[in-house]
Amino acid sequence: MSIAVGADHAGYELKEKVKEYLEKMDIKVRDFGCFSNENADYPDYAVKVAKSIVAGENEWGILICGTGIGISITANKIKGIRAALCCSEYMAKMARKHNNANILAMGGRTTSSEEAEKMIAVFLETEFEGGRHADRVKKIHDLTGK
Ligand code: RB5
Repeated sequence: MSIAVGADHAGYELKEKVKEYLEKMDIKVRDFGCFSNENADYPDYAVKVAKSIVAGENEWGILICGTGIGISITANKIKGIRAALCCSEYMAKMARKHNNANILAMGGRTTSSEEAEKMIAVFLETEFEGGRHADRVKKIHDLTGK
């Protein structure tokens, strides 16, 4: 399993902690930046991570900006991406179960590293339920051909 991670300056510190956590679990991590807490534009990292998933280079993505809002809005513009902004374990679980999300987005200014770890664990272990949820997910992509 390989996970692409990306963040702007407001998500940089949480991204570094998330990386440590994933590496401790022996998960391969591809870091698309940013690489310091100097000002950075979240769309740049959202697009890199999203494209790597669509290209099949990484299975999952984790994106972090200040709130997780801008970076998830951007990622969802890329065809094939379902980025879910989550702030609880329940949301992370449902993002996989009902929405078949392929990117977990979080806020570096709103989420602690302990909460992030719990959300990541549940996100990675939860399977998509399919069935009626697959029909609904298809309707999302049918809207714009994405
Ligand atoms: C940066 O200050 C902040 O606007 C950004 O990280 C993010 O929260 C936008 O949605």
